[in-house]
Amino acid sequence: MPDSPVVYVLNGPNLNMLGLREPAIYGSDTLDDIAGMLDDRAQEIGLEIDMRQTNHEGLLVDWIQEANARGAKAVLLNAGAFTHTSIAIHDAIKAVSVPVIEVHLSNPHLRETFRHKSYVGMAAKGTIAGFGAHSYVLALDAAAKL
Ligand code: DQA
Repeated sequence: MPDSPVVYVLNGPNLNMLGLREPAIYGSDTLDDIAGMLDDRAQEIGLEIDMRQTNHEGLLVDWIQEANARGAKAVLLNAGAFTHTSIAIHDAIKAVSVPVIEVHLSNPHLRETFRHKSYVGMAAKGTIAGFGAHSYVLALDAAAKL
């Protein structure tokens, strides 16, 4: 049987702290818990997940380029705070043909004004935000339909 299409799930700064970090905002699930949910859903819908986290901006750029070169079906990207600052990540999304779906646990529009601007969202195919860990599963379902 041919390999399942791969979906990259890229996570930016401080998302390694999920579960401990501001649980009232981000919930109690860890990134490993989310990886488990995504693996389960991916199996059901015939996809494979490649999930990663980094605190470094340039590595997210490298991984977006890698996903594209590898012919990934989509990239789910929670760029954390780089969402609101990174023209490099914006440019990386624009530079590739792989569709990038912006994901957030919280809804940045309900929070501080500095979170209202998204350089990721300005380049992404679409955005899913505000559903906690379930945002990732919703984004995977969206990726499956692309
Ligand atoms: C976040 C929202 C960002 O504003 C914040 O900097 C994060 C997490 C989210 O998933 O809700 O690190 O991307």
